[in-house]
Amino acid sequence: MDSMSLFLYLFLSVFTFFLLRATAAAHIRRRKTRLPPGTLGLPFIGETLQLISAYKTENPEPFIDDRVSKYGNIFTTHVFGEPTVFSADPETNRFILQNEGRLFESSYPGSIQNLLGRHSLLLMRGTLHKRMHSLTMSFANSSILKDHLLADIDRLVRLNLDSWTGRVFLMEEAKKITFNLTVKQLMSFDPCEWTENLMKEYMLVIEGFFTIPLPFFSSTYRKAIQARRKVAEALGLVVRERRKEREGGEKKNDMLEALFEGDGEVEGEGLSDEEIVDFMLALLVAGYETTSTIMTLAVKFLTETPHALSHLKEEHGEIMLRKGEVESLQWEDYKSMPFTQCVVTETLRIANIISGVFRRAMTDINIKGYTIPKGWKVFASFRAVHLDHEHFKDARSFDPWRWQGNAGSTSSANVFTPFGGGPRRCPGYELARVELSVFLHHLVTRFSWVPAEPDKLVFFPTTRMQKRYPIIIQRRSLFDPCKE
Ligand code: HEM
Repeated sequence: MDSMSLFLYLFLSVFTFFLLRATAAAHIRRRKTRLPPGTLGLPFIGETLQLISAYKTENPEPFIDDRVSKYGNIFTTHVFGEPTVFSADPETNRFILQNEGRLFESSYPGSIQNLLGRHSLLLMRGTLHKRMHSLTMSFANSSILKDHLLADIDRLVRLNLDSWTGRVFLMEEAKKITFNLTVKQLMSFDPCEWTENLMKEYMLVIEGFFTIPLPFFSSTYRKAIQARRKVAEALGLVVRERRKEREGGEKKNDMLEALFEGDGEVEGEGLSDEEIVDFMLALLVAGYETTSTIMTLAVKFLTETPHALSHLKEEHGEIMLRKGEVESLQWEDYKSMPFTQCVVTETLRIANIISGVFRRAMTDINIKGYTIPKGWKVFASFRAVHLDHEHFKDARSFDPWRWQGNAGSTSSANVFTPFGGGPRRCPGYELARVELSVFLHHLVTRFSWVPAEPDKLVFFPTTRMQKRYPIIIQRRSLFDPCKE
């Protein structure tokens, strides 16, 4: 490039930069009186770096705490390339969630959209979303869990725990358990080499979620795209095989069957293979990463709160004495774990696996005296509400007893939303609770453990233990469940 072109290039870049900034500032000034208070931070990057560096530590709270104390529960910031209204207010969060599809629509980064595929439930809209959401719910509700899934959960958790010796990376094992469970629930396969290979490809897909969606710049994203292709091919093969089996009159009791059946009934024409593959791919993502993280964090919090762990051991010791070692857990057993339910609820509250959800305003929206401009992003922060001392006494401590006599009650519906709410409320909320409860039952009745080395809980790009939470385990005598 000669010096004249370089000068022109620099001049145009600087000119464009200031023009964009001035336009944005004018836009904000025009609306200033009505926008929630806050700051847009630096040009282009806004406050993204502050957010990321806070969420890469064990204590990300100051990012929201500082802004809430300066501006109040609803504030404006600029993160991930866009001006965004943050809500730490339960009523506003409820308003955002309940108005999905009317005033707000879900909004995922480009990388996630590309990797999930356009027919995934997370990206669907309108009536198709409503229909497929209720189909998914119908395959993870209490009666299916009771009659069908609980037995698989019990068996697959035992199978995984049977292989544990010495030093175990809890996060890895929890991932294997939840992946195998989801594959079983979706398409009736038990763990085998095929599921193991599928899981490896899956992990590559998930790693690509939080990268720049440009294959040229990011090798992680490139690998994720390749892995997605392989996963889609593998699932596509299963779908085609199953269609053939159905033609021969063979039917299985799983989610794939529900997809073949459910849709044809409503629309008069079935889902295409591509639609089914996208749908299954996203369900595997949604169910597996979240539940395995909650399993790991429940164990971490219990390890750090020994009196809660002893209480839990007592509860499961009694169940074990009643049933013995081999008999699998029944629905009545699951229903006779009141303290476990407190542990599950408290883990969900304090872990905040999904710290909140992004939505986009479909029109100018007035709320609490402010206006959220059309096209702006909003972030309904569940974490900020769950950890607010106004809503929960001593909110930042792990205290399962706070839920005693109240576990799962709806009185806390507005302030306790680990599974979101409204039309997009997590369809796997009950399944996740059962998986975690069964896992805890087998874990505490079979093993005692200590952390193998210090590990760190971080929250960006996802909530996870940095070293996958290594623990040293010891098998316990099954007939003396209260022994340390
Ligand atoms: C502890 C475990 C889990 C947590 C904390 C969790 C949390 C959430 C949250 C907060 C949402 C709402 C997202 C939004 O509003 O945009 C959601 C949606 C979803 N979850 Fe879960 N989830 C968990 C487990 C599961 C499981 C086991 C499944 C398997 C069926 C599942 C499937 C889904 C799906 C398909 C959606 C998208 C729903 C839609 O967009 O209509 N999740 N989850």
